[in-house]
Amino acid sequence: MRDIPFVFMPGQFLTFSAEIGGARVRRSYTIASSPTQRSYIEVTVKREEQGLISRHLHDRVAIGSLLDVSAPSGVFTFTGADADSIVLIAGGVGITPMMSIARYLMDRSYPGDIYFLYGARSTQEFIFREELEYLQKRHANLHIAATMSRAEGTAWMGASGPISKEFIARAVPEIARRRIHLCGPPPMMEAVKGALAELGVPKEQVRTEAFGPARGVTPGTRAPLPAPSLAPAPVSATPAAAVDATPRIATAEVRFTKSGKTGPLAPDQSVLEAAEAIGVPIDYSCRVGICGTCKVPLLEGKVMMEVEEGLAPDEKARGIVLACQAKSVGSLVVEA
Ligand SMILES: Cc1cc2nc3c(=O)[nH]c(=O)nc-3n(C[C@H](O)[C@H](O)[C@H](O)COP(=O)(O)OP(=O)(O)OC[C@H]3O[C@@H](n4cnc5c(N)ncnc54)[C@H](O)[C@@H]3O)c2cc1C
Ligand code: FES
Repeated sequence: MRDIPFVFMPGQFLTFSAEIGGARVRRSYTIASSPTQRSYIEVTVKREEQGLISRHLHDRVAIGSLLDVSAPSGVFTFTGADADSIVLIAGGVGITPMMSIARYLMDRSYPGDIYFLYGARSTQEFIFREELEYLQKRHANLHIAATMSRAEGTAWMGASGPISKEFIARAVPEIARRRIHLCGPPPMMEAVKGALAELGVPKEQVRTEAFGPARGVTPGTRAPLPAPSLAPAPVSATPAAAVDATPRIATAEVRFTKSGKTGPLAPDQSVLEAAEAIGVPIDYSCRVGICGTCKVPLLEGKVMMEVEEGLAPDEKARGIVLACQAKSVGSLVVEA
């Protein structure tokens, strides 16, 4: 048995790519397994009725299929090193990064308290339920609280309704002093952010990740999927070089006008990475050029972008760039 050819942090995602209907489509999926498992990775994909890649993975991919996967990415991670307790709040398929974190912390005998709050529509959609119950029995520091928004008429005896301020306050003592990770559908995330603010949790303690659908990628009609190719897709699991530790040599600078900060920019470094290196906040999600979360206006200079799917043509014409993709050998001025 061979090890997987990369390393990753609990909470990171992979980007899967496939040729569908003549177009290359990429989507990100969080690794739900723990980095302590070296022989496999697990992803949990919700099948979207009209979704390109989720249907492809559910309907086409079988044991023995080769997948085109790029290296792990993302900073929605928690290893236990930077807080003495953690609150993981997930809705729906947003549970995947929390599972990786919880599994990792259990495997490493993390001594802090782990509060795992989960909201799903019904028990049928309560993924990982058996495993979480088992882990809770084994680990006294794991506290699970779940609520089902459509519990009526089912055998569920636990909390019902969405994740509310009251539900959070009941499940987590002294929440205002704890580090919180939040992931779920956008309306749930907004509601929980509001509830946390009302409970006195400082914004800086809340980390979020949105699984927003990819925008700007709507090649043709959606159903049914085009006929599968008999030839297997090529493998390209980019090894952990992408989690690259090589020092970068800056040849230029990037100035961020809103924050008033200037930092070095290496030719192989994205504007997003350069911003992160000097503490300039730029929102992002997929980091692979598809979600559009990291759009920023480019005020001066020229950039190259390997993937531009998250940008509409008119945005491009107005000088908007994707910070996660924008690279340059010359100096830049960016509004951020
Ligand atoms: C960092 C990150 C991590 C993620 N992790 C996970 C994970 O662990 N698990 C997971 O399941 N997802 C995850 N996602 C979401 C995932 O990347 C995809 O966005 C999701 O699977 C949908 O992709 P798709 O290609 O199937 O759908 P798309 O083709 O992108 O469609 C998106 C949505 O639009 C609808 N739609 C599209 N076209 C039409 C149409 N013509 N008519 C009607 N409806 C339409 C689809 O039904 C679907 O709901 C993650 C996203 C990010 C950014
Ligand atoms: S973070 Fe998704 S496009 Fe840049």
